[in-house]
Amino acid sequence: YSAVAKHDLKTEPQYIDAPLTSAAAFLVLNINDGDEAMDKARSVVASIEDLLKDIKIQVNTGIFTANLGISHHAWEPLTRKPLPKELKPFQEIRGAQHTAVATEGDLFYHIRADSVDLVVEFEKILLEAFGDSVTAVDDVTGFRYYNGRDLLEFVDGTANPIGLSLPAATLVGEEDPAYTGGSYVVIQKYLHDLKDWRAQTTETQEQIIGRTKFDNIELPDATEGQKSHKTLCTIQDAEGEHDILRDNMPFATPGKGEYGTYFIGYSRHLWVTEKMLERMFIGDPPPLHDRILDYSRAVTGVTFFCPPRKFLVDLAD
Ligand code: HEM
Repeated sequence: YSAVAKHDLKTEPQYIDAPLTSAAAFLVLNINDGDEAMDKARSVVASIEDLLKDIKIQVNTGIFTANLGISHHAWEPLTRKPLPKELKPFQEIRGAQHTAVATEGDLFYHIRADSVDLVVEFEKILLEAFGDSVTAVDDVTGFRYYNGRDLLEFVDGTANPIGLSLPAATLVGEEDPAYTGGSYVVIQKYLHDLKDWRAQTTETQEQIIGRTKFDNIELPDATEGQKSHKTLCTIQDAEGEHDILRDNMPFATPGKGEYGTYFIGYSRHLWVTEKMLERMFIGDPPPLHDRILDYSRAVTGVTFFCPPRKFLVDLAD
């Protein structure tokens, strides 16, 4: 029994499968130059379990989780361990009309909670611990919009894998034994042109997304010509369909005219998310890109790997 328990501990994932919450934050950090900053950052990264516990014990009900991802750029100096097999920097994708930009970031915290106060509390304590060893690159707090819709007013997250399909789609397996239980995560911050989008008819919007707006029913896949967002993001090969887990959150500052979707996709294989992006930005067939992009501009793009929990804790040694 102890042998099994030991093995499970080594591969126990972070909180990849936590459900969508009312609030979530997406915090991207750069580690500052110098050995001192790197050592400090390593010790804070290794203490994530303790930081979570400090807050969790005080939460009466509801969900509170945080996942940590490390980028290709920071991996070796921070962990002093070999790279996960598929980890590489986010590749810019330049389509005929739209570009998936690549931006910087060494560390990424995905914090999910039932209320914003917990998110802020965690970030406050975390950033205090990092001190001047890191610089924040981006920090977005999202909220759950009614009916689980995004700010394009469509229900978002429906086709996510559930049950046993969830770990199968999101967690590295035996293909990379040193990192079994880890997960690749890709983030992109999108800003919407809501005025233009809301000027479209509901029928046009539904053709773009591939689902009905009111009752969220799938429309048939186009077999040729312009494909919908949901069809372009369906990746099928001889092995079947390859899923990812999306935990997109709306964010907004209406007074500044800012309305966005923070895209986040967890996957067992990085290539699956990359393939979706390629089909969206280049088009299938090219140049028929995903028309969601005519109303949504990607302003960030970063890839990280979320190692198993024990891997992080062991960085303290
Ligand atoms: C499906 C919104 C970006 C991957 C959907 C759906 C909506 C949506 C409303 C249909 C309901 C559902 O199944 O969730 C958005 C918005 C985006 C965005 C507003 C940003 C502006 C992306 C990106 C990817 C992606 C960047 C992948 C790299 C998917 C997948 C599906 C999906 C895999 C399910 C396809 C299926 O039916 O199997 N998205 N999405 N989305 N989206 Fe997105």
